[in-house]
Amino acid sequence: MTAPVLAPAPRTPNDVPGWFWKVDQEAFDWFLDSQTAAGLTGDILELGTYLGRSAVLLGGHLRPGEKFTVCDLFDSSAPDEENAAEMAMSYRKTLTRQAFEANYLAFHERLPEVIQAPTSVLADGRVGAGSCRFVHVDASHLYEHVAGDIQVARAALAEDGLVVLDDYRSPHTPGVAAAVWEAVAVHGLRPVCLTPEKFYGTWGDAEAAKQALLARDWRGEGFRLDEDVIAGATVLRLAWDGVPPQPRPQRSAVRRLALDLLPPAVTRAIRRAR
Ligand SMILES: C[S@@+](CC[C@H](N)C(=O)[O-])C[C@H]1O[C@@H](n2cnc3c(N)ncnc32)[C@H](O)[C@@H]1O
Repeated sequence: MTAPVLAPAPRTPNDVPGWFWKVDQEAFDWFLDSQTAAGLTGDILELGTYLGRSAVLLGGHLRPGEKFTVCDLFDSSAPDEENAAEMAMSYRKTLTRQAFEANYLAFHERLPEVIQAPTSVLADGRVGAGSCRFVHVDASHLYEHVAGDIQVARAALAEDGLVVLDDYRSPHTPGVAAAVWEAVAVHGLRPVCLTPEKFYGTWGDAEAAKQALLARDWRGEGFRLDEDVIAGATVLRLAWDGVPPQPRPQRSAVRRLALDLLPPAVTRAIRRAR
């Protein structure tokens, strides 16, 4: 039997295949650093790890005494047919636990605790109640699974801990949207921030989490930051516009005067040519 060929080791976290983009990378870094600065300690939990793109970043935020746990099926069977179809369509061709571990170890000395199983096993309380400061839910996209994952996150989170829920508004994941907004309407989850891909919320002090986000000049760095009100509560919307603002080049006074004096058609032609 021939050994499986592993992809070359990633040189940067963005070389790891996955679905974790700039705005969320920056928001994860910012929230996790803000928690540490505020003295909030606790474990980190990720449900749905794939090849480790988000896990690599999360593992970089561990402080002494904190534990990082990831839960994913990797190469194991799915617990039901719909989940098996999801796995076959999106992950089976590329995903092995071995590939995840190789990617993770390209950036960190030690692996996190790896639970290779359906996320539903976490409902047995094996993650200590109130032990986590940050939980990333990014596993199955089926309503029943996500609703269960949100309850796992709720039990695992410390008072002001943050939960991040992936794909809460993608056209192909209506079950995630249903579970997320149900958690808000029925189970007391408070929205903090929405990015195009992820919902950030807490069962604790949402105002403090929003203030922590607003302490950074996101707009000045080229991000788009807006506010919305949902059922009386403000939620922040954060997106990456793609281009950091460039300082406008200073024109010399002579050049400005020349452009002002020339006929408008010539001025426009010069601007277009530039
Ligand atoms: C969207 S990917 C995770 C992406 C990853 N967080 C990243 O940043 O690239 C979803 C992962 O969830 C896993 N998954 C799907 N259903 C699952 C289930 N019921 N229990 C555990 N893991 C599951 C898949 O194996 C896949 O690795």
